[in-house]
Amino acid sequence: MDARTLLLTRDQWALQAAEALLVLLPADRETWFLTPPIQALVDDLTSQGELELKTGRVAYVYRPAGLPAQRLIVSVVASEGGAKALARAANAAMPALKGCGARQVDVIWACTTDFDAVTARAVTLGVRDALYLYRHTKPSAPPPATLAKLRLVCTREAGPGVKEGVKQAQGLAVGIELARECANRPGNHCTPTHLAEQAQSIGAMDGMSVEVLDRKAVEKLGMGAFVAVARGSDEPLRFIVLRYQGAGKKDAPVVLVGKGITFDTGGISIKPSAEMDEMKFDMGGAASVLGTFRALAELQPKLNVVGLIPACENMPDGRATKPGDVVTSLSGQTIEVLNTDAEGRLVLCDALTYAERFKPAVVIDIATLTGACVVALGHQRSGLFTADEALAAELLAAGDAALDPAWRMPMDDEYEEALKSHFADVGNVGGRAGGAITAALFLRRFTKAYRWAHLDIAGTAWKSGAAKGATGRPVALLTQFLLTRAGQPKG
Ligand code: BES
Ligand code: MN
Ligand code: ZN
Repeated sequence: MDARTLLLTRDQWALQAAEALLVLLPADRETWFLTPPIQALVDDLTSQGELELKTGRVAYVYRPAGLPAQRLIVSVVASEGGAKALARAANAAMPALKGCGARQVDVIWACTTDFDAVTARAVTLGVRDALYLYRHTKPSAPPPATLAKLRLVCTREAGPGVKEGVKQAQGLAVGIELARECANRPGNHCTPTHLAEQAQSIGAMDGMSVEVLDRKAVEKLGMGAFVAVARGSDEPLRFIVLRYQGAGKKDAPVVLVGKGITFDTGGISIKPSAEMDEMKFDMGGAASVLGTFRALAELQPKLNVVGLIPACENMPDGRATKPGDVVTSLSGQTIEVLNTDAEGRLVLCDALTYAERFKPAVVIDIATLTGACVVALGHQRSGLFTADEALAAELLAAGDAALDPAWRMPMDDEYEEALKSHFADVGNVGGRAGGAITAALFLRRFTKAYRWAHLDIAGTAWKSGAAKGATGRPVALLTQFLLTRAGQPKG
């Protein structure tokens, strides 16, 4: 269920009994700002040892004495405050609320400052993140959360900036949830055709249009690298072109290119079995493009955006591309496929060449491209590759503002040596050393016609282990980047 965020003043709030009251409590005691009855309850909780004032601690009280609320949840916010700390604390409080049946939660930020655009957005996203539940192929999953309203309690009437922040957060949340849902769906459900259907339904929204090309069409165009990857699969490939027009026809668009490998076995260079199931997430780049378009449909910013998704499976088969095969890309460059598991760059290179026809302002590709990027940066920051200083600064700032951070990686020409081939213009792999960088340099060969950046999201698009599932990253980074470009308030 979509929990909507509303803003209301303390006076408006005091007139009603809350179904649930969430107090976000700064760990630093000096700064609390609470009404006397809430203060008394919090004092009681802390003095009785029910609630330690440590980051991440949560206390739940049913029918709190002296409060017109059914339930009180207190969640401690790391003392540095900040948007990240607030998002975390709101997120941590949700498990206590999930099963209780409350349809509405009122949130008090126990700090002398009111909610502003940044903190309102952080709390909304923190809550929405916790409420998302994958159910598509799991009928036994608990029913969806009953929470439908999130009310942020401010001391004064909230200004237009805060309202805009809330609106942004809601658009963003819808986009992030779509990206997570697409990526979580298993490979036998989320096929290239399914991705195209998702794109079609976004294409029906305001300002959107969509076009889907099949194998015949991309063969005719000359996408030999993309087709080479899809050869081993019975599942038909799709090349998805999404367009959002929010500005004049002549305005150069931002082009987003998302890797859409709906399952990556490695092909003939087959992967080991352990954790291979996670290669259903290898369409995380595509999911982030769909999610970003979903957010655009919601927020309607004034700019033009094109989304390109080359989607297929990478499978071993009698007809599959073999190591050593040479293919001709749409750019005309020939590629020796030394390792069929380096398939992401093969589908992307043809999409990057296709991007030229839109005369783009900038092109950004998003891909779960290399295990090497996971080794380099772990699961916190996406890898950012670009030679364009201004574009790097824009993307890094967007990531920081949206709590979806990236980290710039090097792209010195010398690394490109590794891609030399005896039998083609370029090889598709460069050995183990600097694997994320050589992958980026392979892509760079196809991006000479425009300003370009590459995001390697192999470490950030999903989580493994107990919390296995898609994160929806980097929808927040991309959407923030686009909103800032469109000249909207940062929020
Ligand atoms: N989809 C993988 C990258 C990947 C691996 C992402 C593990 C997340 C976790 C990509 O297609 C791939 O297989 N890359 C190879 C490239 C190598 C053959 C040069 C890799 O990283 O091992
Ligand atoms: Mn692969
Ligand atoms: Zn892959």
